[in-house]
Amino acid sequence: MKPIPLSMIPRTRSKTPFKDQKTLIHGGDYNPEQWLSVNPQILQEDMELMQKTGINSVTIGVFSWSALEPSEGKFDFSWMDRVMDQQARLGNRVILSTPTAAIPAWLAEKYPEVRRVDPRGYRPPMTNRQHHCWTSPIFRQRVRIINTQLAERYGHHPALSMWHVSNELCGQCFCELCRRSWSEWLEKRFGSLQAMNEAHWACFWSKQATEWRHAEPTCGYSDGLLLNWLRFCNDQYAQWYQFESDILRRITPSIPITTNFMSTVYGIDYQSLAKVVDVVADDQYPNYDPQHPRYLEAVPYWSLKQDLYRCMKPGHTFMLMESCPGVMQSRTPMKVKRPNIHRLEMLQAIAHGADGTCYFQFRAGRGGMEKMHGAVVEHWGTQRHFQTRRFRELRELSDTYEKIKPILGTSICPQVALIYDSQSSWAQQLTPGLGIDNPPRNTNLREIRYYDAVATEYYEPFWRHGIPVDVIPNDRNLSAYRIVVLPMHWIMTPDFARRLREYVHQGGILIATWDTAMADEHNRMLVGGWPGEGLTDVFGGWIEEVDRVGNGVPIAIDGLPGSGSEIATLMHTNGVEVLARFAQDFYRGMPAVTRFRCGSGQAYYVGTRLNQQARQALFEMILRESSCHIPFQDPLPEGVTVQWRGVCETLFAFAMNFSSQPHQIGLGSFKLTDVETRTIYENCLPLGPLQARVFEVS
Ligand code: GLA
Ligand code: ZN
Repeated sequence: MKPIPLSMIPRTRSKTPFKDQKTLIHGGDYNPEQWLSVNPQILQEDMELMQKTGINSVTIGVFSWSALEPSEGKFDFSWMDRVMDQQARLGNRVILSTPTAAIPAWLAEKYPEVRRVDPRGYRPPMTNRQHHCWTSPIFRQRVRIINTQLAERYGHHPALSMWHVSNELCGQCFCELCRRSWSEWLEKRFGSLQAMNEAHWACFWSKQATEWRHAEPTCGYSDGLLLNWLRFCNDQYAQWYQFESDILRRITPSIPITTNFMSTVYGIDYQSLAKVVDVVADDQYPNYDPQHPRYLEAVPYWSLKQDLYRCMKPGHTFMLMESCPGVMQSRTPMKVKRPNIHRLEMLQAIAHGADGTCYFQFRAGRGGMEKMHGAVVEHWGTQRHFQTRRFRELRELSDTYEKIKPILGTSICPQVALIYDSQSSWAQQLTPGLGIDNPPRNTNLREIRYYDAVATEYYEPFWRHGIPVDVIPNDRNLSAYRIVVLPMHWIMTPDFARRLREYVHQGGILIATWDTAMADEHNRMLVGGWPGEGLTDVFGGWIEEVDRVGNGVPIAIDGLPGSGSEIATLMHTNGVEVLARFAQDFYRGMPAVTRFRCGSGQAYYVGTRLNQQARQALFEMILRESSCHIPFQDPLPEGVTVQWRGVCETLFAFAMNFSSQPHQIGLGSFKLTDVETRTIYENCLPLGPLQARVFEVS
C-alpha cells in the first residue's frame, strides 16, 4: 500500500436526506398546537420569525396525538392543515412525525394493555412519554388508524418532505405480550432449550430453563441472557419502526422515512437500526462549555460520534434532527451557550458529513417539563426577538449555510477506520467486576460513557492531525483501509477474527487495546487463550492475567513518555517488538505495548490505558512509519482540527478551533479559499478563538 497524499483523498457523492435537496436543512421541532388557543396569531408571528431567521424546515406532530385525536375516533386536523399550509407558503419542507411517542390519556385509560409494564411487573396508570408496549395489538391498531389518517391527508401536500416515526425509540416492556414475544425470539435464535441454556451458562445458580419463558430478563444470573435481552429490545425497536413505516410507505412510497437517534447510548445499537431507516438522523446535545476545564477532552468524542453517523448508511449523508441553540435545561448548572459555540457545534456536524441541522425546538413552551430548554424563539416571543444574540447567531448561521451549499451531498473515503461495537460495550458493562459505568465511574470525559471515552482516546490522535476516520461496525470490508483501530472489542466472533487476520496478513496495520477478544457473542469468556478466536497469533502473545487496579490509578511504564493506568494486561509474547514495558509491581519488565509483524502487516497491542502523552508518542510513531499524514502543519495546534468533504475535483476543508486561544495553521503547499468570503490563504491560516471556517482546497 503506497501512502496517498491527502489532497488525493477519494471523495464521493452521497444521497442527501431530502429528495432534490438544494440547501442545507436549518430547521426545528415546531409545536404551535400548544399555543393556538392562547395566541391565535401565533402562525402569523412564527412565519415572520422563521423567514427572518432562515428556518427552512420544521418537524411537526411529535407527541401531538391528543391534539389530533382528542377522543377515540374523533379527529381534529384543522390546526395541522393550517401549519402545513403555512409551511408551504414559506416554501419550507415539513418533516411530519407520527404522534405515537406519547399516549393520550383516553387511550391509556381505556386500553391498559397499551401501557408498559416495568421490571417489577407494575403497570403505572400513566407515565410521561415513550411508554407504550411494543407488542400490544390494540396499540398497533390505534397507531395504524392515526398514521393512515396522516398519510392519506398529507401524502400529497407540497410541504411534506419526510416522515419521522415516533420519537427516540427506546425503553423496555415486561408485560405478558412482550414476554411471549421474547420467548419466540429465543426459540428462533437457539432452536433448542439446551442450546439456550449453554449460551446463557444457565447451570450456574440452577437456572436451567425447561420452558422458553424461564429465561428471566429481570434477574441477573446470566449476563449473556441480559445481553440477548438487549438484542431482543433492539429488534423490537426495529420492528416497531418497520410497522409504523410500512403504513406510511404503502400510501406515500416516495417520501423518505426516518426516526431520531440519540448519539450513543447504552443498550441501543444504532448501527443496526440504521439499516432500516431511509435517513440517519441524530439528536445531539454536547453542551459545550469552553470555561469547563475538561471541555477540550469532550470535543473529539463528538467528532467521533459524527463520523459514526456518517458511516451508518454508506452512500447517504445524515442530519441532526435535534440540537439546542441555547441553554440546556437537562444539565446543571444551566449555563447559556457561549458566543460562537453554536456555530462551532453545527459546523462540526456539517464538517463530518451532516447535510442539515435542526433544533428542539422552534418556540419554547410556557409550561410543561421542558419549558426552560433553549429554543430558537424564547418566551419573550416576537417582540424583542430581533434584538437578541440568539437571533443574530442563527441568522448568520443561515447565511453560512446558504454560502456553503456546494458541500451538499459530498463525502469522503478515509484510509483509517475505527471499529465501533456497541454490543461489546454492553457486554463489558454487563460483566460484573469490570465496574464499567455501572456504577458509573469517572470516564475522564464529562458525561461520556467509558467505552466511548476509550474509543475517543484512539480517535483523537487522527483528529489532531486532521486525518479523517471512518467509524464503522465490524461487518464492513476492511481491505480499503491502511489502519484499523480496535478499541476494547470485547466480543469476538470466529468470522470477525478471520477477517482481522486476513486484513493484517495482507498488509494492514491493526491497533487493538486491552480487553479485545475476551468473550463470545453470548458474553461467555473465550477459551484457548486471549486475545481469543486465534488472535494470539496475530498479536504474537497470549494473556495470562489482567490486573485491574482501579479507575484513574496510574501504572508506570518504560519505553514511552507518560504512563499507563487502570489496567495491566500481562502477556506472554513471542517474537514481538516491545514498544513499552511495565515499570512497577511484580510484572515490572513485562510488555505493555507491543507490535507484531504478521504476514505483510503489523498488529499493535496496547495493554494498558495510556495517558495522553504516551498515546500521542505512540501514534506519532505509527503515523510517521505508515506515512499517514496531511500536508498541513503536523500535528495541528491544541484544540484545532481540520475535516474534509468533497466530490470529483472539489475538496472542502473545515478548519475548526475549539480552543479559546487564537491559532495559526501552517498550510504546506495547499491554497485555501474561504467559501464565505472568497479570501485566499497560502502558507498560513489564522483561526480565531472558537472559530469554524469552510474552505475550498487547491
Ligand atoms: C430529546 C427529545 C425532545 C426533547 C429534547 C430536549 O432529544 O426528542 O423531545 O425532550 O430531548 O430535552
Ligand atoms: Zn409489552
